[in-house]
Amino acid sequence: MGTRKLIMFGGTAVLLVGILLAPSLQAKGELVRGHELYKTNCASCHGEDGKGVKGVKAATLNNEGFLKIASDDYILKSMRAGRFNQNMTAFDHTKIPDEKAQLIIKNIRSFRPDIQPQDLKNERIVGDPVKGEAYYKQVCAACHGPNGEGGIGSSITDPGFLNAATDEFILKSVTTGRPGTSMPAYPDTQELRNTISFLRSKQIPLDVAQENAEKKKAEEKAAK
Ligand code: HEC
Ligand code: HEC
Repeated sequence: MGTRKLIMFGGTAVLLVGILLAPSLQAKGELVRGHELYKTNCASCHGEDGKGVKGVKAATLNNEGFLKIASDDYILKSMRAGRFNQNMTAFDHTKIPDEKAQLIIKNIRSFRPDIQPQDLKNERIVGDPVKGEAYYKQVCAACHGPNGEGGIGSSITDPGFLNAATDEFILKSVTTGRPGTSMPAYPDTQELRNTISFLRSKQIPLDVAQENAEKKKAEEKAAK
């Protein structure tokens, strides 16, 4: 091979390797950025590895039972709404634009690359909320509070939670449980479906929840 041919060949080879490596480098870059964004915005409560932080009450995001059923959409909606009864502020588009939010979700998924979220249908759960309230008080209230306001377990009447969670997500949360936490797995029964109707009946729109929160803040300020 002449020198010119050799240079051309070398150049083509470098280009080829570059083309082959680019996507994986890009994926790696995304993971690094996702990790940084997560570290800055979320790790103080949920832990850098999703395991949570000692002394801070927040869900463990690396939980198998959570990652199995949480869709990207549920995680995004949770971020956008925050939690009202619990210590998580809302991250709107000005704080975290969509593109960055997706990188954060990728980072959360990377905690357990072996777990793919199930493809949940958007089935509406039909049940009797009055019967559901009785079952809730009997079985769930000890951990989630008499009115779902939270206790050992999270607040499951929180407007941020109810607006992010589909009926299927709530049902599967309960039938899967959260291994490694005190949340047991329960069988899928009509009583449980009634309980989901009861929780749903407590839902208020996010803008109303926002107004209520602002009113409460103003009242607390005035009382000082
Ligand atoms: C100041 C503390 C705090 C920060 C910061 C925070 N969270 Fe949360 N987060 C909470 C609490 C408290 C809950 C509700 C408790 C629960 O669901 O068990 C929660 C719930 C969630 C849930 C629902 C979990 C579940 O089990 O259904 C997701 C998803 C979530 N947070 C994602 C994020 C992401 C992503 C960030 C960063 C952009 C973030 N959080 C920042 C405290 C925090
Ligand atoms: C012994 C205590 C206990 C009992 C009883 C219990 N839970 Fe839980 N539950 C928990 C804990 C703790 C968590 C949060 C786990 C975590 O950190 O991810 C939880 C999480 C949940 C979640 C997920 C919330 C979220 O933010 O994603 C739902 C939904 C739920 N429980 C519903 C129920 C229902 C309905 C019942 C009754 C049929 C029930 N639980 C009974 C302790 C309990």
